Amino acid sequence: METSNTSFILTYFILLLVIQQVESAWINHDVYLKCLQSQNSNSISEVAYTPKNSSFSSIFLSSEQNLRPASTSALKPILILVPFHESHIQAAIYCAKKHGIQIRVRSGGHDYEGLSYTSLSKHPFVIVDLRNLSSISIDTESSTAWIQGGATLGELYHKIAEKSKTLAFAAGVCPTVGVGGHFSGGGYGMMSRKFGLAVDHIIDAKIIDVNGRILDRQSMGEDLFWAIRGGGGGTFGIIIAWKVELLPVPEIITVFNLTKTLDQNATQLLHKWQYIADKIDPNLLIRPRITNVNSSQNGKITLQATFNSLFLGGVDELLSVMNRSFPELSLVKEDCTEMSWIESILFFAGFATSESVDVLLSRTPLGIAYFKGKSDFVKQPISENGLEAIWKRMLEEVDGLVEMEFSPYGGRLSEISEYATPFPHRAGNIYMLHYGAVWGSSSESEEKLTWIRRLYSYMASYVSSSPREAYVNYRDLDLGVNNDGNHPSYKVASIWGTKYFKNNFERLVHIKTEVDPSDFFRNEQSIPPFSS
Ligand SMILES: Cc1cc2nc3c(=O)[nH]c(=O)nc-3n(C[C@H](O)[C@H](O)[C@H](O)COP(=O)(O)OP(=O)(O)OC[C@H]3O[C@@H](n4cnc5c(N)ncnc54)[C@H](O)[C@@H]3O)c2cc1C
Ligand SMILES: *[C@@H]1O[C@H](CO)[C@@H](O)[C@H](O)[C@H]1NC(C)=O
Ligand SMILES: *[C@@H]1O[C@H](CO)[C@@H](O)[C@H](O)[C@H]1NC(C)=O
Ligand SMILES: *[C@@H]1O[C@H](CO)[C@@H](O)[C@H](O)[C@H]1NC(C)=O
Ligand SMILES: *[C@@H]1O[C@H](CO)[C@@H](O)[C@H](O)[C@H]1NC(C)=O
Ligand SMILES: *[C@@H]1O[C@H](CO)[C@@H](O)[C@H](O)[C@H]1NC(C)=O
Ligand SMILES: *[C@@H]1O[C@H](CO)[C@@H](O)[C@H](O)[C@H]1NC(C)=O
Repeated sequence: METSNTSFILTYFILLLVIQQVESAWINHDVYLKCLQSQNSNSISEVAYTPKNSSFSSIFLSSEQNLRPASTSALKPILILVPFHESHIQAAIYCAKKHGIQIRVRSGGHDYEGLSYTSLSKHPFVIVDLRNLSSISIDTESSTAWIQGGATLGELYHKIAEKSKTLAFAAGVCPTVGVGGHFSGGGYGMMSRKFGLAVDHIIDAKIIDVNGRILDRQSMGEDLFWAIRGGGGGTFGIIIAWKVELLPVPEIITVFNLTKTLDQNATQLLHKWQYIADKIDPNLLIRPRITNVNSSQNGKITLQATFNSLFLGGVDELLSVMNRSFPELSLVKEDCTEMSWIESILFFAGFATSESVDVLLSRTPLGIAYFKGKSDFVKQPISENGLEAIWKRMLEEVDGLVEMEFSPYGGRLSEISEYATPFPHRAGNIYMLHYGAVWGSSSESEEKLTWIRRLYSYMASYVSSSPREAYVNYRDLDLGVNNDGNHPSYKVASIWGTKYFKNNFERLVHIKTEVDPSDFFRNEQSIPPFSS
């Protein structure tokens, strides 16, 4: 009797809570919208979408690249604001504070855990989607660019190539990734051995802080300017623009993408690669990826290694570098293609190089599926036996796509001090590992997550430890969550925080305490202030 009474009361209270939340979501968006209108005369209601607007869902999902986060998170935003003016963002912040609503800022929407548009917390939130603040101005004279926070990498690369054949920028491969999130977490790409990360070339920025002030490098000060170059998005304020230095590239560069099966000694080649990956000429970056494929011979699942490579120079020079340092790959001229830097952007994004560069302007994600990624850092080569044991785990997965990507270190990437930016994974790493699983339906999610978590736990003995480092741009909520996105406890945050930022975590907490002591800008993995 007693238990059923208790459970009845419990059910009743849970129901009441749910009803209150649903109600508060509906009330909130009207109240919030009214506040926006009263705060801003700059046509703000033309860019504020509530669930009552028919385009709400399509805008909510428009940059969604990973179907997993929105499939599990119950709470949708009460409103999506697509500002075309900075004053809209200031109003959004003012009204959110006034009405106790959270803000998620979205640039390219590629966050691995969907933190820019979903929330595990029960707190109502609005999305500030920067897609319409995406202009880019290039100054070839000074080799610099101002890039608005909502621009994508594809838009940036396109704009640079329009102005110059010998200027470029070093950042990620996927053109639909946004600079807002990407530059906030590091930014690794095919030229990172030559130039380092995107954050290593940011020279100024404009941010709107918790008080709605627009600050540049000088007015924000060097501490905050340090923190936003790698401390992770969604923590310190809303970046409305970055200023970067552009980088010199030759007019002709060379790419290759060589695939080897296990029968073609993929394992031995990968083993050898570990000894040259971080030491070879920094103009060359060889990024192998292991994937599962159906064998063309017997239809069974097997693995293949694809060696994706960019060389900042002509093919003859590349062949002589390869002959000197990695003859085992037996690279020949026919495997290589000379092209311009912007064509290499198309190539690595999976387009034909004959395609118009205008495809880089599309914000529609290239592949949409359920996805989970994780990362690791490797400091000692893994033996051939070790690799074979890892392949066994990879081969357990038969109907989904799985990958391990090996991103080499060395060169400029490893020369920069681990304290220069919040991104701490520098000297001492041979390569960064990325694990990925892709699948087609939410009914498979549990199984795929179990698989990738098992692989990750198996990998522990091969990778960095104390802390087991991870790359914040490959966001992974398995590493820890701040009390479901509500005020985090410092203790939980220091677990995932030390993995992403090592000793820089403490400095990030200090700076957060200075600039946003009430923890207004927060998500499941944002840096907490000390008080919490
Ligand atoms: C297909 C794909 C390919 C990728 N390739 C690479 C790669 O080659 N190299 C690499 O290093 N990484 C890569 N990544 C990871 C990528 O760098 C991160 O997911 C990055 O955070 C995405 O930025 P975004 O603006 O698109 O994402 P969003 O989801 O918009 O934002 C990510 C986080 O930053 C916050 N944020 C966004 N905009 C702002 C802003 N203006 N101010 C403050 N905070 C902001 C968000 O709230 C969220 O917390 C890839 C990801 C995907 C999905
Ligand atoms: C959303 O719907 C309201 C009510 O129909 C309308 O007044 C408003 O203009 C719409 N907003 C947008 C951005 O289309
Ligand atoms: C973005 O701006 C364009 C051009 O002004 C406009 O047509 C479009 O509706 C805006 N997008 C959103 C989602 O408001
Ligand atoms: C693989 O390696 C073995 C031993 O080094 C060698 O004999 C063989 O020719 C290689 N196979 C291929 C396809 O390169
Ligand atoms: C590779 O180097 C060897 C000697 O180290 C040389 O004999 C050979 O011709 C070179 N091959 C190419 C293609 O450069
Ligand atoms: C490289 O080759 C692999 C295997 O054929 C292919 O799946 C991949 O799309 C290619 N990558 C690039 C960048 O061309
Ligand atoms: C292999 O083929 C099967 C049957 O066509 C398919 O279901 C599976 O997804 C494929 N696997 C890979 C890794 O391509």
